[in-house]
Amino acid sequence: MTTNKKLDAWVNEMAVMCQPDRVVWCDGSELEYQTMLRLMVQAGTAMWLDQKKRPNSVYVRSNPADVARVEEFTFICAKDKDDAGPTNNWRDPAEIKQTLTGLFTGAMKGRTMYVIPYSMGPIGSPIAKIGIEITDSPYVVANMHTMARVGKKVIEVLGADGEFVRGLHSVGAPLAENQPDVPWPCNDKTKYICHFPETREIWSYGSGYGGNALLGKKCHALRIASVQARDEGWLAEHMLILGITDPAGKKIYVAAAFPSACGKTNLAMMNPTIPGWKIETIGDDIAWMKFGPDGRLYAINPEAGFFGVAPGTSMKSNPNAMLTAAKNSIFTNVAVTPDGDIWWEEMTDAPPPELTDWLRRPWNPGCGRKAAHPNARFTTPARQCPVISPDWENPKGVPISAMLFGGRRATVVPLVNEALSWQHGTFLGAIMSSETTAAAAGKVGALRYDPFAMLPFCGYHMGDYFGHWLKVGAKAEAAKLPRIYYVNWFRKGADGKFLWPGYGENSRVLKWVFERVTGTGKAVDTPIGRLPAPGALDLTGLAVPEASLAEVLRVDVEGWTSELPLIKEHLARFGAKLPQGIRDELAALEQRLQGSKVSAGAR
Ligand code: GTP
Ligand code: SPV
Ligand code: MN
Repeated sequence: MTTNKKLDAWVNEMAVMCQPDRVVWCDGSELEYQTMLRLMVQAGTAMWLDQKKRPNSVYVRSNPADVARVEEFTFICAKDKDDAGPTNNWRDPAEIKQTLTGLFTGAMKGRTMYVIPYSMGPIGSPIAKIGIEITDSPYVVANMHTMARVGKKVIEVLGADGEFVRGLHSVGAPLAENQPDVPWPCNDKTKYICHFPETREIWSYGSGYGGNALLGKKCHALRIASVQARDEGWLAEHMLILGITDPAGKKIYVAAAFPSACGKTNLAMMNPTIPGWKIETIGDDIAWMKFGPDGRLYAINPEAGFFGVAPGTSMKSNPNAMLTAAKNSIFTNVAVTPDGDIWWEEMTDAPPPELTDWLRRPWNPGCGRKAAHPNARFTTPARQCPVISPDWENPKGVPISAMLFGGRRATVVPLVNEALSWQHGTFLGAIMSSETTAAAAGKVGALRYDPFAMLPFCGYHMGDYFGHWLKVGAKAEAAKLPRIYYVNWFRKGADGKFLWPGYGENSRVLKWVFERVTGTGKAVDTPIGRLPAPGALDLTGLAVPEASLAEVLRVDVEGWTSELPLIKEHLARFGAKLPQGIRDELAALEQRLQGSKVSAGAR
């Protein structure tokens, strides 16, 4: 019971429908977190890791049919189908509510219904928003404790008439009387991740994993928040936030949008390889940005933890992630060592001689299978990150000087390219493309357009979203807007190997961005935008063949020209909602590419 009548009424209504054995209001306490871990261990969902090696940490294996976001079953349920747009699955809100009501009726039988009050963003920050997640999964409760600010304080801030996002979640596996539970209950037949942007509601059924179930994250902080941001004139983006300080002590903040499993966590907490430079983390996945009184765009990280991709993470590639996850962490779908620690692909140079894999089978290095699922994840508190920024919980946020867009592109897209203007940058965001990853169920490695890394996360018509970006730019003073860059760490050579070493070496690109923003960096104009002038990218001490560097920075006029028809086809999907500013930028790109071919031919 709270003082908020709307909240109490809604929780009662959901409890009547879902018919749990009991209702528990989460208080966000350490005791509650421990209780969830113990419950999971008792139920066989989790296993304690060795408490000396990984203090207060558990190991969880999901059902093999429930390992990633399910984009196919994710819906935007706006009244008008056109508001969901061509990139989202749509359902009529009244019709799907009927279907869902059928599914949720009795869905929590034999289980406990937890009510989780959470704040996305530091509690009380003017940029933060409150949500309430109802769930029947202790795994979700424990993860939400780490990923958001949870509990009593949130109810206090909400007060008697505060607004909140309503999130209803069930694993969709009711228990009959005396029916034994399984370690990872879920519904392997039916999954629905439904968003009702008009009423700020989320109904998620059938999955217990990641973005499907931790409703504060992708469902609230991106899909619902993007709609709120459109309505209220701000930005909710799939972006990391970092601070970068030069050897003289000058600091700027950068946000970067890369699609799922394309390097946000890694960039956000990297150790720069260039001496004297420092990177600090504010967030690794989501940024909410609003204009401050000084006319600049300020960003907060709405989350409180990292739900990071485990495979590929090592003391070499991302030591700060490894150190963050040293304790108080939940590891899902990784492998476990005989002495009770975790392991995943590339965590160490040589794999341990024997392991139990994420499917509970004996594993050894020669067996030909992966030990961890490619979308195995760690859930870990952001405050434990050795390079967390002193401003990561600043309620005002941090002023953003530059934004990066990027994806996995084996060809065509160079290492870095500065947009000519906010409008050109918006165009670059709109035509971003990337190879798909294991973060979502489905094919891995398929090239698709993923505008602003928001394809799976935009809660409304993507054409209107481009329009919103242009409006945000038009409203601001141009000189105070962040500069926009298109980056690609994943270009490959003829041998199929990455041309650029990536990770900490990406600090060289950040240094050039820093110098551009602060006025000293040199650039050359090309048909696609501004690239580092010869010598402007600091390559001191970098052991990469000259030819690879030339290739990674090459402006592939032919390649871009042959992509124009694909870009046009992609943008045509947005029909009349494609803003004029994007059409103008497309025409301008086409002209610049043509012009450069003519001049190249004339030489
Ligand atoms: P989500 O949490 O799904 O949103 O992913 P993310 O964008 O935070 O991706 P993350 O940083 O976890 O990286 C995903 C994968 O990309 C990992 O396997 C990394 O090892 C790899 N990766 C990250 N940065 C680089 C890079 O600069 N170069 C290369 N080659 N791989 C990278
Ligand atoms: C992503 O897929 O972009 C993630 C992981 O950050 S999840 O929370 O599952 O969406
Ligand atoms: Mn993400």
